[in-house]
Amino acid sequence: MKIVTAVAPVNIAVIKYWGKRDEKLILPINDSLSATLSTDVMCAKTTILTSPDLKENKFWLNGKEQSFDNVRLKNCLTESKLNYNKYIFALILIIFLVKKRCNSTLPYINWKIAICSENNFPTAAGLASSAAGYACLVYALAALYEIDGEISDIARLGSGSACRSVYGGWVRWQKGILSSGEDSIARPIASASHWPEMRVLVLVVNDNQKKYGSTIGMNHSVETSTLIRYRSESVIPQRIEEINKAILERNFHKFAEITMKDSNQFHAICLDTYPPCIYMNDVSHAIVNLVHHYNTYKEENKVAYTFDAGPNACIYLLESVLQEFLSIVNYIFPKPMDIKANDYFKGLPLDQTIIKK
Ligand code: DP6
Repeated sequence: MKIVTAVAPVNIAVIKYWGKRDEKLILPINDSLSATLSTDVMCAKTTILTSPDLKENKFWLNGKEQSFDNVRLKNCLTESKLNYNKYIFALILIIFLVKKRCNSTLPYINWKIAICSENNFPTAAGLASSAAGYACLVYALAALYEIDGEISDIARLGSGSACRSVYGGWVRWQKGILSSGEDSIARPIASASHWPEMRVLVLVVNDNQKKYGSTIGMNHSVETSTLIRYRSESVIPQRIEEINKAILERNFHKFAEITMKDSNQFHAICLDTYPPCIYMNDVSHAIVNLVHHYNTYKEENKVAYTFDAGPNACIYLLESVLQEFLSIVNYIFPKPMDIKANDYFKGLPLDQTIIKK
């Protein structure tokens, strides 16, 4: 019998991935860049057991059990509209690819496996749960089957953004140009300790399941938005180099400006999608206003917001303004907002403050 457990953190993109050039291989139309958070507050955890005594493959996702033996693959394909089955289909594909990459003489390669995956934060509420979940699964499988090399390309096949959660610190996912997808991989550009004062706050506005998942939303954007092409061809190539430089130089003012502009442009594309996919709500917009007022008061950017496919705000800020900004948020949003996680980058000493109202 062999057991492995892996923990993978959420990543928060500052240059958003939105749109695919190949849906099957999950190849993006633009490069993206994110920071991977510490594993202590928001993460996925996967345990895999393999034993000659197991009669069938099994997996539990957040406590729900589902058999995923090959006989079910057909169901997954026919019922692919259901996210759950999409997950199982990706699971089978990922297991197949990891096994293909490992040493085929491993004595337990043909034993059945039992997988138990869970997130410690809301699934599908625009909080990058799938990224952490798939990265964790691939990580755990790679550990089980003793794979050492590249695995971000396999994580990408579960969910695009998952390939960035395979690494800690600042990570860039290169879109690649090959149709095979071989060059569409994630690469770390700087470690978390490169910018030790950096902090991330996650302001949970609403943790209900989002109306349009990212996959559907970005497909509609590619089909109907005219802005999306302008962004991928004329904006991102320069923007990604600029933010890369700002991170390497630890220039927060510039970093914040690019992060906020990119979040705004991503949501402008969502609005330019027909019918529009609207993720931000009034509270999200109030947070945007608050951040701009705060930065104006400070006479330079001290705080940056970014929103994924949901209303929840991810706030990048430096340690020096964390307490002051938190007090203002607490004062302005007394009830409706639930500040769930005061998160820190992987590798940093943790405070582990979780503020709930
Ligand atoms: C807005 O990685 O969830 O969070 O590849 O279809 O599974 P699929 O999409 P997913 O999209 C994430 C979109 C985003 C931006 C980002 O994380 O870069």
